[in-house]
Amino acid sequence: MLRAGQVAAGILDAIAPHVQPGVTTGELDRIIEEKVHQAGAKSATIGYKGYQHASCISLNHVVCHGIPGDKKLKDGDILNIDVTVIVDGWFGDTSRMYAAGALPRKAARLVDITHDALMLGIEAVKPGNTFGDIGHAIQTFVEGHRMSVVRDFCGHGLGRVFHAPPNVLHYGRPGTGPVLEEGMFFTIEPMVNLGRPETKVLADDWTAVTRDKSLSAQFEHSVGVTATGCEIFTLSPAGRFHPTYG
Ligand code: MF3
Ligand code: CO
Ligand code: CO
Repeated sequence: MLRAGQVAAGILDAIAPHVQPGVTTGELDRIIEEKVHQAGAKSATIGYKGYQHASCISLNHVVCHGIPGDKKLKDGDILNIDVTVIVDGWFGDTSRMYAAGALPRKAARLVDITHDALMLGIEAVKPGNTFGDIGHAIQTFVEGHRMSVVRDFCGHGLGRVFHAPPNVLHYGRPGTGPVLEEGMFFTIEPMVNLGRPETKVLADDWTAVTRDKSLSAQFEHSVGVTATGCEIFTLSPAGRFHPTYG
């Protein structure tokens, strides 16, 4: 899991310098696909339920599952890039936020809160806690900053498969849901909107957008429960998980 996670995270590091105004999301995806192969890994998303790309690239009000294409990035755009690879049969799934050019102030706040929400959720990962504790940590923090947590998509178990039970909700009540046990692997991947939480899926059957067109952000790590807490498999090898780090 660590090797798969590090391959995925290394690819997200390597794509960062390419995220610039004028580049298309399709070009970014082609670079990602090449890097997946250079790493000796397989893309988990190409061929998954008919999806044809090595990444999801979700711009501005796109919540998740944005399809790479001919759209050119503009100065001030924010985007999530989500990469899942398979290494020796194990899945590594991670996403983070990027900015094309200068990061606008409101977008920077959203990105910061979303990042911190993920890390607070991860802090709740230890044996004996429940999935509800993770969701509660994320939800209370996000809503305390007057932003909203998307309900329509969630994290998931993973390992030798891409999406396994349980659903990892990014909202919830303390002490509810399944109990965390050493050896469980799953993702935490909160999507946070500046406006309302509702989403809709476009006619392409993939792209999920905010109904109110407000900006949306997401960060995702793959983690494993250890005896005393958790191990993050998808930490950035270059230490640049957050857009303002690098
Ligand atoms: N990587 C996404 C997740 O976090 C799933 C993408 S499936 C795809 O679960 F087919 F849209 F690529
Ligand atoms: Co995921
Ligand atoms: Co993902």
